[in-house]
Amino acid sequence: MNFDREMESRVKETEAILKAYLPDESGWARTVMEAMNYSVNAGGKRLRPILMAETYRLFGGTDKIIEPFMAAIEMIHTYSLVHDDLPAMDNDEYRRGRKTTWVVYGDAMAVLAGDGLLNYAFETALKSFGMPGSDADKKAAALSILAEKAGIHGMIGGQTADIEAENLGDQVTQEHLLFIHEHKTAALIQAAMMAGAVLAGAEDAQVRLVEKAACEIGVAFQIQDDILDVTSSLETLGKPVGSDAKNQKTTYVTLRGVEAASQEQREMSDHAVKLLESLNQEGFQNEFLIELIRSLITRIK
Ligand code: IPE
Ligand code: IPE
Ligand code: MG
Ligand code: MG
Ligand code: MG
Repeated sequence: MNFDREMESRVKETEAILKAYLPDESGWARTVMEAMNYSVNAGGKRLRPILMAETYRLFGGTDKIIEPFMAAIEMIHTYSLVHDDLPAMDNDEYRRGRKTTWVVYGDAMAVLAGDGLLNYAFETALKSFGMPGSDADKKAAALSILAEKAGIHGMIGGQTADIEAENLGDQVTQEHLLFIHEHKTAALIQAAMMAGAVLAGAEDAQVRLVEKAACEIGVAFQIQDDILDVTSSLETLGKPVGSDAKNQKTTYVTLRGVEAASQEQREMSDHAVKLLESLNQEGFQNEFLIELIRSLITRIK
């Protein structure tokens, strides 16, 4: 398998799906639609929809029913970034190689574009009920996973703890930081993979296994993000480096140093791969998914 070529074609497919579901820009409210499309079309790795589609395939899914859910998870993720960059949060001016939404459209419109993307994500996923493939129970279960993992017991909860921890300095323990990473980042990766599993008809125990693996994949992903914030550059990342230090964030790097943080994320990722590979015995296997997870620990952006 040529991983890079396969990945490139997955990204293209995902972008075509996203494009089909993004709103038209028209009418008196067109500015919010432009701001929504600006942030989504800026690019990005499209990791979450691809993880979703590949987990769906892992459990034998083949229908187009996955497509509105892929668009929805990328909209939710993009909204989280638009709000994360606001002056009231991380106060960053670059994202995905472009000026952030608030810099281009102003704070008010960035708040509304984020809200718009979150709501539009659910409008989009609900369109699956008018499509054949998978039954209504599974679609409802996938929607419920998206809602919960994006909410106060998921991403929003993690962002809350992240913001409050800025003022705690060295009082932030490893346990506290793990809560932040599991929620602000791993929750949406769990949502992506669990929704893919559920829509393909995975059993409860399998969905729980995917939830565990995705938690480790997500925390490892955020640890690498913390590392890149000190070791990379704006040109490579498409977003500013030094954002965490500027905001006095406690990260795996400030707690453990780059070397130990890197080792830790590798162990988490290896363990997640083991968990997913344990499904091979039940006849479920997706080589590309495993390669994708492995590629994340050495990614440069
Ligand atoms: C950035 O996510 C926010 C984190 C959770 C670290 P990504 O690194 O997936 O950002 P894009 O989608 O590629 O821009
Ligand atoms: C953000 O974590 C996680 C989100 C839910 C957006 P960061 O604040 O570290 O993400 P970046 O580095 O700005 O992408
Ligand atoms: Mg942040
Ligand atoms: Mg940030
Ligand atoms: Mg970061």
